[in-house]
This record gives sequence, C-alpha cells and structure tokens, in this order.
Amino acid sequence: MRLSTPLSALLGLASPIVQAPMAGGPSSQELVAACSAAGVLGSFGFAYTQPEEMKKQSAWVRAKTDRPFGINLFTFAAPGQIDARAQRGALDAVAGYYKELGLPAPEPVNAPYAPDLEAQLDAIAEIRPRVFTVHLNDLNQNRIKAFQSLNVLVGGSATCVAEAQHLEKLGFDFVIAQGGEAGGHRGSYLRDPYQSLTGTLALVRLVARAVKLPVVAAGGIMDGAGIAASLALGAQLAQLGTAFVPCPESGAAQVHKDLLLKATEDTTRVTEKFSGKPARGLSNRFMTEMAGKQAPQLAFPAQNSVTGKLRQASAKAGKPDFIALWSGQAAPLSRALPAAELIAKLEAETIESIQKLKGMLHET
Ligand SMILES: Cc1cc2nc3c(=O)[nH]c(=O)nc-3n(C[C@H](O)[C@H](O)[C@H](O)COP(=O)(O)O)c2cc1C
Repeated sequence: MRLSTPLSALLGLASPIVQAPMAGGPSSQELVAACSAAGVLGSFGFAYTQPEEMKKQSAWVRAKTDRPFGINLFTFAAPGQIDARAQRGALDAVAGYYKELGLPAPEPVNAPYAPDLEAQLDAIAEIRPRVFTVHLNDLNQNRIKAFQSLNVLVGGSATCVAEAQHLEKLGFDFVIAQGGEAGGHRGSYLRDPYQSLTGTLALVRLVARAVKLPVVAAGGIMDGAGIAASLALGAQLAQLGTAFVPCPESGAAQVHKDLLLKATEDTTRVTEKFSGKPARGLSNRFMTEMAGKQAPQLAFPAQNSVTGKLRQASAKAGKPDFIALWSGQAAPLSRALPAAELIAKLEAETIESIQKLKGMLHET
C-alpha cells in the first residue's frame, strides 16, 4: 500500500514526506541524496552557501539519484557593514567563551554577513531544482514567475495566517505552515516571531482554511503518527527536520546527534543569541548564560558571524556548550537510523496509524 496526496503525486514522490532544508550543515548532499533516492523530497538548506557550492552539491545529488530534490534560501535582506564600535558589546559578551576554548579574542565582523541573495537566486535558476522554498521573507513576483516557467515549484514558510495569505497573493505554489514546535529559525516575516508561535495543530488548520494553496505541515512531526495527524489536519506533505538530524548522512555535529538521541523531555528554548534572530534549540550553557546576561547582539545574520568560530571550536572539541543545537520540541522521539531506513519506518507507521484510526470506526 502506498500513500499519496495531490502535491506528492505532482512531485512524483513515493511518500508525502519532506526532509526539511537545514542550513549550516545538517542537510548535507549525502542526506539530501539519500532522502530523495528513498522516495521523499530531500531538501538543501543553502542559506549560508555560496552559489558555486550550491551548484556543485546539486550536481553531486543528481549524479546519485534522478529523483526530485528541493533547495531553500533565506530571502531576508542582510544588513550592511556594522560599525566596529557598535559591535563592541556583542563581542565582549562572548569574549570569555572564546578564551575558554583557547581562541584569540573575537574581532569585529565584516559584511557581507551572508552570500549575495541575487547571485544565489540566479544559481537556483541554473540548477532548476524541482522545488525551491523561501524562508524568513517572501520573494518578488518576477522571480516567482521565472522559476515557475523553469518548472520549479515555489513554496514559502508561514508562521501565521497573514503570511500564508500573502504568499498565496504573490503566486506561490504551496505554503509551509511552520508551527511553534519547529526546530531552528522559523520563517516569520510579517509578524513578530514571538507573536507567531501558534502550534502545528492549530496553525495547519487555520492556514488550510484560509488559503487554497496546498499546505505542508512542519513542526514537532517525528513519526508516522505525526504524519498521519498532519494529513488529517489538511496538509498534503509533512516536513520533518529534527527527525533527520541524527541520521548518519546528516552533517550535524556528533554531539548534537547524541544529545537529540538522549533527550527524554522537551528541553528546547528559543534564543536569538546565536544568529540575531529567534531559533529553537536544545538548551545549553551558551543559551542560558547569554539570556541571563541580557547581552547585546548584532542584527541577523551578523550575530551568526560573531558566534561562528565559537560554534566551530565547540563542535570540534565535542563540547555541546557553545553549539547551536537546533531542535524541535519532539526531540525525544529521535531515532539513530540511516535515512532510507527511517523513511521506510515513517511510511509504514503512517499507514499503520491511518489503519488504526479506521479500526475505530464501527457500524452502529
Ligand atoms: C538544524 C535545523 C536547521 C534548520 N534550518 C532551516 C533552514 O535553513 N531553512 C528552513 O526553511 N528551515 C530550517 N529549519 C526548519 C525546518 O525546515 C523544519 O521546518 C523544522 O525542522 C520542522 O520542525 P521539526 O524540527 O520539529 O521537525 C531547520 C531546522 C533544524 C532542526
């Protein structure tokens, strides 16, 4: 028995499952290829990736599988150069941690703080992935139409009804309803992210009622029961991020994977101190101490540059204290399985969940 929805059929997927794009390492080319080859949509998080590298990794995936894959970018406009004096407080706030890890004192960080967005969008037009999604903002209509004319389906993250309706008005092909449970940065772009923490259960229903576009559910979905629930709520695909972080193919730090697998309770918190924008991760020393300090921070994603060396050194030392351990609230449901095995299980569990529900129906 196979599961399908109009959107999964359009994409030619064997399962209505999307491996979420995850910027900064976890969605490695190996993970994207393994997921797509297993019949779901593997997705790259290329927010911090230069155009040439985007093309290289996409070609690598195409050499491994002819199945469709997706690419995601942050369409948020990065700030220009921030004056060195204005950076002092943010640098001082992390200087002690640099010292503790044996790193030289942090220096002012220089723009550009992210790859050039227009060049990244040009690379998308060249790569032509089957799916392109935007995060943390919308996209202009000329770009949307140009991608669609290249047979690229265009989707965007929404964390409230107004954001989903705005994407629909612009001509997007589908919308990702990203609930407050979701790991990493959530895609809020019209409302204050802290006023847009609606849970997946409520958000998917609200968005499915408000727009005609196909809806993808994201946030807290880790197993077949979660996928079946998303479909029942009216979603056509379920996007799973945290569930794929512990896979051997994922590029996440080993200590990040280990902590997800050890989790027994939701210990996630939302912090802005790693990147300058709120994102959900397993609580660690950096998050709690920085929250307590009320330390200044730079605008997103310049703050990401401030913490970059710290995060890298911490991961290298196998120390979880200063790594951004992005995770959704359902982390304790994590499993250490190769992507293809995880996907086979997810599919079987989804079918089992739907059958179980059917079994609750009785003639009266
Ligand atoms: C490590 C990590 C990195 C993420 N990076 C991105 C990203 O670059 N772009 C994006 O649209 N979503 C990103 N997300 C969010 C996921 O796409 C997805 O919506 C979310 O993981 C779903 O919730 P879950 O973590 O509970 O499965 C990230 C999530 C995680 C866990």
